[in-house]
Amino acid sequence: MIPTELRERLQRHGQDHLLAVYEKLTQPERANLLRELAMIDVAELQALHARREQKDALPERARIQPLPRPTIEEADCDDFFGRGEDAYYEGEMAFLIVAGGQGTRLGFDEPKGMFPIGPISKKSLFQLHAEKVLALTRRTGMRYPLLVMTSPATDEPTRKFFKRKNYFRLPPQDVWFFCQGTMPAVDLHAGRLLLEGPGRLCLSPNGHGGTITGLAESGILDQLEGRDVQTIYYFQVDNPLVNLADYLFVGRHLAQEAQVSSKVLPKTGPKEKVGNFLLLDGRCSMIEYSDLPDDWAHETDEQGQLKFWAGNPAIHLFDVEFLRELTTQADRMPWHLARKKVPHLDEAGHLVKPETENALKFERFIFDVLPQAERWTVLSTSREDEFAPVKNKEGVDSPESARAMMIAQHTRLLREAGIEVTEGIPVELSPLYAMDVEDIEETYKGDRRITRSTYLNEPMEFRKRTKW
Ligand code: UTP
Repeated sequence: MIPTELRERLQRHGQDHLLAVYEKLTQPERANLLRELAMIDVAELQALHARREQKDALPERARIQPLPRPTIEEADCDDFFGRGEDAYYEGEMAFLIVAGGQGTRLGFDEPKGMFPIGPISKKSLFQLHAEKVLALTRRTGMRYPLLVMTSPATDEPTRKFFKRKNYFRLPPQDVWFFCQGTMPAVDLHAGRLLLEGPGRLCLSPNGHGGTITGLAESGILDQLEGRDVQTIYYFQVDNPLVNLADYLFVGRHLAQEAQVSSKVLPKTGPKEKVGNFLLLDGRCSMIEYSDLPDDWAHETDEQGQLKFWAGNPAIHLFDVEFLRELTTQADRMPWHLARKKVPHLDEAGHLVKPETENALKFERFIFDVLPQAERWTVLSTSREDEFAPVKNKEGVDSPESARAMMIAQHTRLLREAGIEVTEGIPVELSPLYAMDVEDIEETYKGDRRITRSTYLNEPMEFRKRTKW
């Protein structure tokens, strides 16, 4: 029997179709359905569904100011740099990859982090990120927790992949996985919970905003405090260009006692498909490209430059104590609604694969924590240096465009180090070989001219298995 309280709750909130479904299930299927329903707030779902025709509420224009273009006084640069360097050399950093997304657009069967992105090496996104952390460890002698946020669909394959690959030679005890929460999908018209199989609801990851509760519920915030980690370096699994060794970014964040800091990217046009940084009531905030009204998007200043110029590459620093404070009020983070095609069982129990959008999914976004911060900093970066998202199968923001950007960046670094690279020749630097021009100058012993496809891997003496 379905417990009376649950039965009444389902009836009250438009989910009584599940009562009929329940009757037809086997015992284990029933147990599963009850377990999943116990974690769901059906009243909240009903209220969210009622908002389906509304766009996310837009604040009045008068409350909004463009984000000032960040500048750093020359005189402060050295101080900030030194402060950041100290944080790395004292092991006060942890790195956080968000890798719980479904990667629908890429259409890769495995978790996106397993995608072979290296232009020559074919190494995976996970390997690339892990090697950046290992390179930092080799440089500073310090160990850094690498936090990997997964979701129910990516958790097991991700853990197995890291294990199979020997944690890319990071200390296994420093790679901390945690699984984000889920939210159910509901039918677009009636708001009814959908089933993906007998006794199984259609559940999907609760958005990268799920990081906050995920970190707290997994106990990772406590562990970080136990290791005296003050700053979390947050980035997305699908950005192979992310620079994890940014002393200036970290140093300024710390020097100004910021709770959150973000990299910002000058937009390529008014309607570019990236989130828009701006000030809301004086605080750093973000509006998604789809929510930015056309007339705002085209506003320009006296110099004719876009007022809403600052795009979001999703690279942030979070103060651990600030995250702790946030977790006490994480339930206040808003839910964003998205219309999706969600395969599900119909009333007769047959699988339906919809051709048009039939369902609502709900996600929290990490950037909704920005306005909670009283103290924050932003630092400008460029696509060439730090942002090559792998989103689509082909074309814009695809593996092909990301690989081309990796090759271009590595060519640039080699040339800056005085090595000639023939135009059009692919080159790739392992992070374990070099992270910047100085590393190349120190390590590069080869011919001063590179004329054929070249992968510069870590020096032989380091390649043996690292023991921790
Ligand atoms: P996207 O929003 O681009 O989603 O995630 P996605 O899953 O990679 O791709 P699509 O939209 O299904 O095609 C940006 C980053 O946030 C992570 C993703 O793994 C990616 O690193 N993410 C997204 C999560 O960790 N959890 C989520 O619930 C959503």
